Amino acid sequence: MELDEARRRRVLRQHVMTDQLLGVQAVPISAGVALQVDESAAVEGEGSLSTHGRGVVGNESAQAIDRTDGAPRPSVARAGGAGGAGDVGGARLEQIRLDHEAHCQTPLRDLQVPGAKIVFGEGSAEADLMFVGEGPGQTEAELGRPFVGRAGELLDKMIVAMGFSRETVYITNVVKFRPPKNRTPTPQEIAAEAPYLIDQILAVQPKVIVALGGAAAKYMLDTTRGITALRGNWHEYFPVPSGQAIPLMPTFHPAFLLRQYTTDNRKKVWSDLQEVMRKIGE
Ligand code: URA
Repeated sequence: MELDEARRRRVLRQHVMTDQLLGVQAVPISAGVALQVDESAAVEGEGSLSTHGRGVVGNESAQAIDRTDGAPRPSVARAGGAGGAGDVGGARLEQIRLDHEAHCQTPLRDLQVPGAKIVFGEGSAEADLMFVGEGPGQTEAELGRPFVGRAGELLDKMIVAMGFSRETVYITNVVKFRPPKNRTPTPQEIAAEAPYLIDQILAVQPKVIVALGGAAAKYMLDTTRGITALRGNWHEYFPVPSGQAIPLMPTFHPAFLLRQYTTDNRKKVWSDLQEVMRKIGE
């Protein structure tokens, strides 16, 4: 089958980006053709799989937990913020964020260090693609934003290599309060925050969810199987039991990838992400 020019450029761009950013020399399988890498075409290529860019929402007023009086206190607002008038998804996400901040009963709330912020999530309220990680680390809790530390830098590269941008996807975690010393959240801690994650998913209604790492994948798929067994295959996630399934692709957490930065692991992650791109393009 002949690829049209725009698609050819996109494929070339992905090839070059993958090589440059992830260090994996893999041509997208979906291309179905032998490609000659033409960097100029790749660099100037139009680049994104789909047009997004609607309301970008985030931790508009990420809250710091002030342990001296136990009450949340407002902190610096992040640039970006909810989309304009009529941004129903963004308004709904903001409602959920405020509800979570005020009412979430997680045991993690009492374990926060002074100044730590709740990391609710950010991105487009109408994103086709949603990433769900484990929980905020130190940098995330300092800034009130998901995936902004070293693992976040790698996630950003993955997002760009996929032809998206941070503003066109939605990024969150199963827990929004930082677990002490970055430990894995317990099942009780995950369960306490789960209703808010479900509400976020119902608000955004992504076409595809990528679960980053074992904690997110195991919780969302209600399984004890490890990430190595789960990744690379499509699963169905049901935000509500009687509702519609959302395709979910588990993959290695970027922090794991940084620790085990082997060609094999990078290829696996890139192959998972290519599957995701293919699904979104269907
Ligand atoms: N790791 C996660 O799982 N989430 C973040 O937001 C940052 C690091």
